[in-house]
Amino acid sequence: MPEIKKPRYQEPPLPEIDVEEFRKVVMTRRSVRRFTDEPIPEAVLQDCLDMALLAPNSSNLQPWEFYLVRSPEKRAAMAKACLNQNAAKTAAELIVVVARTATWKRHSTEVLEHWPEETIPRVVEEYYKKGAKVHYGRLPLDPMGKVKKFIRNVAGLSRPFPRWPNSQSDMELWACKSTSLAAENLMLALRAHGFDSCPMEGFDEKRLRRIVKLPSDALVLMVVGAGRRAENGIYHAQIRFNRDRFIHEI
Ligand SMILES: Cc1cc2nc3c(=O)[nH]c(=O)nc-3n(C[C@H](O)[C@H](O)[C@H](O)COP(=O)(O)O)c2cc1C
Repeated sequence: MPEIKKPRYQEPPLPEIDVEEFRKVVMTRRSVRRFTDEPIPEAVLQDCLDMALLAPNSSNLQPWEFYLVRSPEKRAAMAKACLNQNAAKTAAELIVVVARTATWKRHSTEVLEHWPEETIPRVVEEYYKKGAKVHYGRLPLDPMGKVKKFIRNVAGLSRPFPRWPNSQSDMELWACKSTSLAAENLMLALRAHGFDSCPMEGFDEKRLRRIVKLPSDALVLMVVGAGRRAENGIYHAQIRFNRDRFIHEI
């Protein structure tokens, strides 16, 4: 059966949004280090993951993956790999958030396959068939992206020109940017459902990769521990520096 393409602009009208409800979610999100034994209902967890997948992402190439650590053996090993942190040991769920640098090519094709209109605009088709390859791909015999960088710098002499990404490490940063936004969506969604989370980068990556069996291009962005906040789950009041330090007008 051919896939029925959904017409564009059929989204429901924008609903009224109560900013105070959003503020509650943002302001009550904390990194929770101890959780109760209460499980997160499966539907809630899946809803939070669905919301994570709605994060904005570069060229819509969706470079993220989420691994739910479910088997008891892997759970125990993962808590150890997370340096026995309470947030990992007590979490109802452990979710490994991964950024991929090698899925962009396949996803370029998939964007076109999922395009929501009968006719794909030419500029879109050109971009995903050719432009993305030029933009994200690496030149042969240019592992560090130096040639690509040079070409871009020359092209940029006379007009604004994208200077990046050129190397594998550029692509790692590229994938991590979008995946971080998905991780934040996940944590805010958990909070909106009344649950909590702790993002963790305190882990032994080598051990973690062995447990999750990650492909070689995968970067472990963080492990998110999630569950119901325990009474002693927050270690201290939230600290933020003066906003003048961070917000600049130019
Ligand atoms: C990338 C990243 C890594 C983190 N790693 C850990 C960690 O390994 N263990 C931990 O307890 N908290 C970790 N945190 C939580 C931070 O310590 C926490 O976000 C910060 O202290 C601010 O507190 P708040 O989240 O409650 O506002 C991490 C947060 C981020 C964003």
